[in-house]
Amino acid sequence: MWGGRFAEGPSAIMAEINASIPFDKALWRQDIAASRAHAAMLGAQGIVSAADAAAIDAGLVQIAAEYAANGVPEDWALEDIHMTTESRLAALIGAPAGRLHTARSRNDQVATDFRLWVRAACAEAEAGLAALQRALVTRAGEHAASIMPGFTHLQVAQPVTLGHHLMAYYEMAARDISRFAAARERMNLCPLGAAALAGTGFPIDRHATAAALGFAAPTANSLDSVSDRDFALDYLMAAAQTALHLSRLAEEFIIWASQPFGFIALPDALSTGSSIMPQKKNPDAAELVRGHSGRIIGALTSLMITMKGLPLAYSKDMQDDKPPVFEAAGLLTLCLAAMEGMVAGATFRTARMRAAAELGYATATDLADWLVRQAGIPFREAHHITGSAVRLAEGRGVALDQLPLAELQAIDRRIDARVFAALSVEASVAARASYGGTAPAQVQLRVADARAALGME
Ligand code: ARG
Repeated sequence: MWGGRFAEGPSAIMAEINASIPFDKALWRQDIAASRAHAAMLGAQGIVSAADAAAIDAGLVQIAAEYAANGVPEDWALEDIHMTTESRLAALIGAPAGRLHTARSRNDQVATDFRLWVRAACAEAEAGLAALQRALVTRAGEHAASIMPGFTHLQVAQPVTLGHHLMAYYEMAARDISRFAAARERMNLCPLGAAALAGTGFPIDRHATAAALGFAAPTANSLDSVSDRDFALDYLMAAAQTALHLSRLAEEFIIWASQPFGFIALPDALSTGSSIMPQKKNPDAAELVRGHSGRIIGALTSLMITMKGLPLAYSKDMQDDKPPVFEAAGLLTLCLAAMEGMVAGATFRTARMRAAAELGYATATDLADWLVRQAGIPFREAHHITGSAVRLAEGRGVALDQLPLAELQAIDRRIDARVFAALSVEASVAARASYGGTAPAQVQLRVADARAALGME
């Protein structure tokens, strides 16, 4: 393709280090679509004849059928998907094939193809997140009133509802979706026609190719068009944030599935056994989601480091933009599906969760709040009185509401029998009815909002 200037061909090492076809063949659909849009524009503008434009288009359609049927051939000498397709076009239609590359460069070509690919990957991630949200909302609705311990420092803090806990992940997924959607909008400008770096002297119509490929408009600066990979980084940032959320949920499921917790049984279909210990059922899928999140975050780091030292405009380093994005996208799709399956298929052991909420004096705050409300005691003093009650109960090995009234009154005579109604875990969660709080009624409201937002009704 560029042999005119050279006396000898590339060495085997040059061919190997240069070849991107082993991975950029994944862009073949986008490459064909962008070439068809470009050829149609060249024909419409009279830059190539209508007959040549038609021959090019027919050839590209045939190549697409060949790739779909047999895969993309991998010849390192042809470097990448762009030259692979152009050389096949020349074999199929002869001389007119040589006119396709008029007024474009592989630099704007790859920027366009990759944007198209990443734009679709954003939409795919949004769909995967919405599917996870539907699973979360369904389970949260079932468990709006199921009581479990809420934790801080992984120490029992206050009782919460399982539905409330699951809906926390719904909120994270909503933010993740908005990050992918914003990235998709921002990247929806077409670099095609920026050519190598400076634009072109041919009378091209960039608005026409942008529209044909579903972009909102052409990009405004040719240098930026071919050197910008923000769109890939935007995708990876959203993917890394999503992976981080999935990893936290996976980590919780791993902890909850361990025998000392026993809060959850993960679906058999997403668990594995042990080759030596017959009793084992391991949360491997959750562990791999947690593990893969590190690779997704690594992909973001990798591309940032590739880009950070590059002068304008294109440098060949940028060919390395694709492997991290492809790897991250494949892992993200898998992780989203795995977590959706775990959420949808988990058995929540609600009796066990409720019993755990009764341990650890999770309703101590309710005793303090009761002293404030019923006896007008300042919260700091109420906190101190409650601490004494917890110390007494702990010494006896009983729950707060199992202490005799007389002993509570010995700590503070303003305590009366009505206090016991406030000390149950049910009363505790029901009391937290502030907007966004854990009360079952609040959770039902948030679940209803979410179901409406997801079109589930
Ligand atoms: N395979 C190249 C890439 O992925 C295409 C662009 C090549 N441009 C160039 N000036 N060598 O980046």
